[in-house]
Amino acid sequence: MTTTTTAPTSTTVLDATGVTMRFGGLTAVRDVDLKVNTGEIVGLIGPNGAGKTTFFNCLTGLYVPTEGKVAYKGTVLPPKPHLVTQAGIARTFQNIRLFANMTVLENVLVGRHTRTKEGLWSALLRLPGFKRAEEASRARAMELLEFTGLAAKADHLARNLPYGEQRKLEIARALASEPGLLLLDEPTAGMNPQETRAAEELIFAIRDKGIAVLVIEHDIRFIMNLCDRVAVLVQGEKIVEGPAEVVQADERVIAAYLGEPFEGAPGKEEAAEVEAAEAEADAQSTTEGDEK
Ligand SMILES: Nc1ncnc2c1ncn2[C@@H]1O[C@H](COP(=O)(O)OP(=O)(O)OP(=O)(O)O)[C@@H](O)[C@H]1O
Ligand SMILES: [Mg+2]
Repeated sequence: MTTTTTAPTSTTVLDATGVTMRFGGLTAVRDVDLKVNTGEIVGLIGPNGAGKTTFFNCLTGLYVPTEGKVAYKGTVLPPKPHLVTQAGIARTFQNIRLFANMTVLENVLVGRHTRTKEGLWSALLRLPGFKRAEEASRARAMELLEFTGLAAKADHLARNLPYGEQRKLEIARALASEPGLLLLDEPTAGMNPQETRAAEELIFAIRDKGIAVLVIEHDIRFIMNLCDRVAVLVQGEKIVEGPAEVVQADERVIAAYLGEPFEGAPGKEEAAEVEAAEAEADAQSTTEGDEK
């Protein structure tokens, strides 16, 4: 009997090269290269207006980059959102985009449509193949709601979820397309410290499922905890890329983005106080009953 060799430890999932996006006279993204490998969580940071979201839009086919190309697992992608999703890249949006009047479960089911093969006629005629596919989709959607901690709210309308849970639902919906790479655009914007920590755990769990993650965030502590590697965009250009600790200490990054930091920034004790107060408030609100 032969012994099986282990698979290579890392392969390139995303390989963006020379991505440039111009809007008239404005170059929002300039000649950016970025790789993400399997098993990695990569951070993308930079000041407001640096081009981070525009870069995501170029990766996902929402914008057709003026120059450059985007390859997923070795194949160059056509700049069409549904083809990008089908290939295996999913995303969430900086401004939450849920179907507000659909239930939590229905929102996740929408995310599955690129993975269901049953066609229109099969759906209209409700053929047995369609019913089976529909049941399998529901089961998978429920699994994802368990995974993201939203299963108990499957039947609630999306618009009735608190903000932090809406962000989680966006992640569940993105996962429903069974991606190999997940792009998160400011996943903790508007979250309290407790929700942010839960989001961190969720992103680690996603990575542990074998999905590579590229995440845009302004919360530097979150980025530094989470990311293996960080790239910094300033005025459309990638000025630095490297391990989180190296980037945090880089003078160019401090000058252009971080500023002279952490004096005056909340210390550990203050953060702990805030978290304790929030935990208490949370405990009280759960004893007050579950509102829809
Ligand atoms: N569709 C568009 N048409 C014209 N200009 C645009 C368009 N989208 C973005 N821009 C411009 O491109 C630049 C980069 O914007 P982008 O939203 O990518 O920045 P960002 O890094 O995501 O910022 P933030 O941290 O505030 O989300 C900005 O100057 C913005 O006004
Ligand atoms: Mg943005």
